[in-house]
Amino acid sequence: MLCNNIGVNSAGHLTFAGLDTTALAAKHQTPLYLMDEDRIRANCRLYKEAMSASFGEGSYPLYASKAASFKHMYEIMAEEGMSIDLVSSGEICTAVKAHFPMERSFFHGNSKTDFDISYAMDCGVGHFVIDNLTELEAVSAEAQRRGICQKILLRLTPGIDPHTYEAVATGKVDSKFGLAIETGQAEEIVRRALELPALELLGYHCHVGSQVFDEDGTVYLDAADIFLRFSAEMQARYGFFPAVLNLGGGFGVRYTEDDPHVDIPGNIRTIANHMRARCAALNIPMPAVLMEPGRSIVADAGMTLYTVGTVKEVPGYKNYVSIDGGMTDNPRYALYGSRYTVLSATAPLSEADLPCDLVGRCCESGDIIQPAIALPKPQRGDIIAVCTTGAYNYSMASNYNRIPRPSVVMLRGGEDFVAVRRESLEDLVRNDL
Ligand code: LLP
Repeated sequence: MLCNNIGVNSAGHLTFAGLDTTALAAKHQTPLYLMDEDRIRANCRLYKEAMSASFGEGSYPLYASKAASFKHMYEIMAEEGMSIDLVSSGEICTAVKAHFPMERSFFHGNSKTDFDISYAMDCGVGHFVIDNLTELEAVSAEAQRRGICQKILLRLTPGIDPHTYEAVATGKVDSKFGLAIETGQAEEIVRRALELPALELLGYHCHVGSQVFDEDGTVYLDAADIFLRFSAEMQARYGFFPAVLNLGGGFGVRYTEDDPHVDIPGNIRTIANHMRARCAALNIPMPAVLMEPGRSIVADAGMTLYTVGTVKEVPGYKNYVSIDGGMTDNPRYALYGSRYTVLSATAPLSEADLPCDLVGRCCESGDIIQPAIALPKPQRGDIIAVCTTGAYNYSMASNYNRIPRPSVVMLRGGEDFVAVRRESLEDLVRNDL
């Protein structure tokens, strides 16, 4: 199986986190997001332990909560002693409602509004990750008005292209995020940040991209090199050395059997050893290191269940299996051409004899969950499972075609419970006047 939390039970049904998925579908209805809470916690611990073992005290992971944001996720992160990355007032509000200790939060975003800045300060967000000079001045002015000293990091771009898909590559010089070292704008914002008394500059941040595999080469090592060199230059020119360097998120996960496995502790060890050697060569101290994984914390903890509506065979062309969800609960194939592993939950061991496209119910031909797969020929009412949907599925869901968003059910220690209720038809019209 793709992941060791997926199996088959004695009834011949697909299991996830040890539970019968067809029984979960019957109990909670479909479409249904399942989240393996034990896996989420294990992934958090993997990062925390690897980072403190390799980078030492003061280095830790932040969960990039854009990957999956709802109250219970922040409760898990609080309990696991994780810090978090937030990108909107909506995510901040959700974390606050979950009683997350907000001093452990980092507020990102390239277009924070005046409302965002002031709401984040009201909520006690610990750190702002500043994207540009205009925002720096705005955050400084608001902090000054409140008589506080706001901790900040500066988002800088090292000019690295990680060769993942364009839409999620963010570390290039011409990125919409951050300021480039190459153009001199990074130095300019460091100089200005150091002049502003209401801001405490802690360090630098970069995020090179997402779904990065070892075969993408040495992107993290290159980013670290560029940042250490830049840090040494800034120290020489302005006497400022960063206490922390945030290397962003991005480690890839396995959506299909063809995807490679990323050894996260091994990669972290390599980055740490490399950075130590570079710091020694540059004669600078080793900063604390932060990383911001999203996908690799939650992706393999997720599975989506659907009920088959129709099987349409177009003789001589192709076959369609239509389900009761689609691009509204998982837009990732439509947006990025993302690959997924699709299984029959009803009969996972039967021969996959029907070549087909798994398509959604939206009025749009591009509403495809996954093309060119093979399934045991399903009947109306059979349950289909799409694996590895824990990241950027629920969080990117929409109400296109006025389709309500599914519920999120957590699986923990062999029990299941609802973390996010299914939207009702009433919910859909709640704000219509
Ligand atoms: N930090 C920053 C500043 C980011 O922009 C991101 C992701 C992360 C951390 C987490 O990266 P991860 O570890 O999850 O790769 N919607 C796309 C992914 C967009 C990623 C955006 N930024 C998808 O569905 O693949």
